[in-house]
Amino acid sequence: MSETQTEKMTGDELASKLKNNVVFRRREGVKGDGLRLSAEDMAWWTDVKFGMFIHWGLYAIPADGEWYMHFAKVPVEQYAKYADEFIPKHFDAKEWVQAAQNAGMRYMVLTARHHDGFALWDSPSTYNNFCSTKTSAKRDFVAEYTQACHEVGMRTGLYFSPMDWRFPAYFKPQEFPENAQLMKQQCYGQVEELMRHYGKIDVLWYDGAWLAHEGSDADAAWLWEPVKLNTMVRKYQPKVVISPRSGWEGDFGTDEGGHAAAGPIIDWPWEKCLNLNSPSWGFNNEQQVMTRDEIVRMLVNVVGRGGNVLLNVGPDREGRIPPHHVERLREVGAWLDRFGKSIYGTKAGPFQPVDNQYCATHRDRTVYVHVLDGLKSATLVLPALNAKVVACTLMSGDALRFAQSEKQLEVTLQPDQRQTPCTVVELTLEHSL
Ligand code: GLC
Repeated sequence: MSETQTEKMTGDELASKLKNNVVFRRREGVKGDGLRLSAEDMAWWTDVKFGMFIHWGLYAIPADGEWYMHFAKVPVEQYAKYADEFIPKHFDAKEWVQAAQNAGMRYMVLTARHHDGFALWDSPSTYNNFCSTKTSAKRDFVAEYTQACHEVGMRTGLYFSPMDWRFPAYFKPQEFPENAQLMKQQCYGQVEELMRHYGKIDVLWYDGAWLAHEGSDADAAWLWEPVKLNTMVRKYQPKVVISPRSGWEGDFGTDEGGHAAAGPIIDWPWEKCLNLNSPSWGFNNEQQVMTRDEIVRMLVNVVGRGGNVLLNVGPDREGRIPPHHVERLREVGAWLDRFGKSIYGTKAGPFQPVDNQYCATHRDRTVYVHVLDGLKSATLVLPALNAKVVACTLMSGDALRFAQSEKQLEVTLQPDQRQTPCTVVELTLEHSL
């Protein structure tokens, strides 16, 4: 992609173009012997299903998304001045954790450092003292956040961007080899700090290991040496779950954006990340907030295909998640209070999803079918099961009429038994699948 082409693009277009390294349902990235976690070590992650992504940094001040510095072509020294103004009065990590808990979210991932290079912690390796303890805020936000998570047993994740727009080498790595080494040194130093000084880290979410707006993260592996980088990470955090965006294949796959999850079950760990509020990950003044039903539908569709949902919020410059976003998350939490049994700790299947009609999860002897609006008929026809169904109910306990044969399973749902955005049908089997 040429520079001129990218310049014409808007934030979302470019961001998704850059994601040509993320191919849904398949892993790219260099391999690294023995680096990937076992299914057993991944079990907590595949069980939790729903997490909070937080994009927060200096870009909350201009309030035009986390790509602001790049798109508005703000010179490095000028952008750095935002650090003088960054004194977030209302930052309270406990409130963030509480908001995530109220939403039924069971892990969190905070942008410790995004592509603008500003580190939210006390970072000795930062290039040019660009971190929150050495500028006006004088606070280590990563310390406060990790502590707040640890206090309540919230699984704790950190996002980190290896590349940094402040380095000319990001744009022209071959032309500035020494500068490229400096940028790499910062990356290794900062990743080490994050992995060593903040207790147990459950997720390390890399993003942005590509170079010069071209190619994939794996194409830039010649610079970052992601296997070496993550071998170091495993030394400090042997069980941390690592995203696929450092150029190494990672422990899970990512699917980025609010497009619907469709198609069959994916049989390796994957995560959809998306925005509660479009059009950017970082705070913006436009408010296109997803509805509760859209979020629940997304969750059900992703979980029914074996994935997790990492839903993003963008706190404002003072550190507040906008109150109506918190409220929206609480509504999702209320749905999960009632129906979370059909989500957490389940596996996708046994039925393959039928787009817009239903998808299913199961645990032990119970199968949960999430029936969606696209099913218009009063009869839900499911493929045959190799276990006898001994009960079929709504999650409220109301019995449903059903008929099981060798060929199929039919469940009758009266119109007044349907719920928005989905009806959860519970099947109890004679034995586990
Ligand atoms: C893209 C964007 C970035 C955002 C990320 C979230 O890679 O560059 O701004 O943090 O997606 O997945």
